[in-house]
Amino acid sequence: MHSNGPRLRADLPTPALLLDLHAFEDNIAVMAGHLKARNKAFRPHGKTHKCPEVAKALLRAGAIGCCAARLSEAEVFAASGIPGLLITTAVISKGKIARAVALAASAPDTMFVVDDRQNVRDLNEAAAANANREPLNLLVDLNFGRTGITPGQPAVELAQLIDSLPNVTFRGLQSYDGAAAHTTPFDARAARTAMTMGKAVETKQLLERAGLACPLVTGGSTGTYRFDSDNPGITELQPGSFVFMDMEYGTIGGPDGNEYRDFQNSLTVVTTVVSRSPGMAIVDGGYKAFSTDRPFTPRAVGIDGVVFHWAGDEHGRLDVTNASRDVRLGDRIEFLPPHIDPTVNLYDSIYVLRGDRVEDIWPIAARGKSQ
Ligand SMILES: Cc1ncc(COP(=O)(O)O)c(C=O)c1O
Repeated sequence: MHSNGPRLRADLPTPALLLDLHAFEDNIAVMAGHLKARNKAFRPHGKTHKCPEVAKALLRAGAIGCCAARLSEAEVFAASGIPGLLITTAVISKGKIARAVALAASAPDTMFVVDDRQNVRDLNEAAAANANREPLNLLVDLNFGRTGITPGQPAVELAQLIDSLPNVTFRGLQSYDGAAAHTTPFDARAARTAMTMGKAVETKQLLERAGLACPLVTGGSTGTYRFDSDNPGITELQPGSFVFMDMEYGTIGGPDGNEYRDFQNSLTVVTTVVSRSPGMAIVDGGYKAFSTDRPFTPRAVGIDGVVFHWAGDEHGRLDVTNASRDVRLGDRIEFLPPHIDPTVNLYDSIYVLRGDRVEDIWPIAARGKSQ
């Protein structure tokens, strides 16, 4: 329990990130329970929350570690004692490789991904200087549209190179298909991820036929976890957004229609009405309070008929002509963020609420750690 600061939702300074602990705990229980029942390991992605307290809550629910999008994010998690780190983007350049080696020296179970032969050689060379003499754990990253190497023979050859070098160890495959995560509707998403994850599983079989063990195949997302967890070749899942959800994920469709109901929105941005004129209210949340990368704007919670328009860095303009209740100066209005990861990255901390009581304040310690 935090000792300083406001104790009630109504007293929090705005704009601020609010976490509904009940919904958050339910989301974790749903994902962790689903994966446990299917005997899949659970290494959720920390890029969504960037918050060691969230990573710890996931570990308590059975996660075996935490993914990080970037080295600097992983360094923050490691400093907070989070085990089982997997950095899901390749570490390129001399300075970062030296930091990767230092991280692995202090957290030897850390894993890194690669998709390039020269990068493998660079990592191998740098790891020779590793103080604890443990080889670096590498996964071959498969390409389904962005980074990664072509599945099949090219991936096998990269794994063979890793296997031939003394200071790196081949641990398996990363098979993340970002486009599958938001494919709609539900059946198209199932088909897309079955196709791409199928290529990963084929690559694993090719590796084994070539005499290389491939104990780990990791991938999947909030959108595809149901399908990937039924795929016998996938060993672990790395979903991220499910802990908080966002407007976009709410629309990817479920088995029963356009809404995706597997998880609840647990995170909102609270704002205050700072100016009021006929039909219009200005709130203190604009480009600096929400991510702006989606073609739709934040949605008000607990009040209908309000339309949000961007009104600059610090402000949003609400059309309240058809609002379901009175909107007055000083009123607080909460919004669902359009896209969760870049929204969280705008804040220093999350106010953790049980009902209207502030139970805790969690630092978003890896906020801004994009290097
Ligand atoms: C490599 C990787 N794995 C997993 C995830 C988690 O996906 P989601 O937040 O859609 O669950 C992401 C998200 O971008 C990712 O980049």
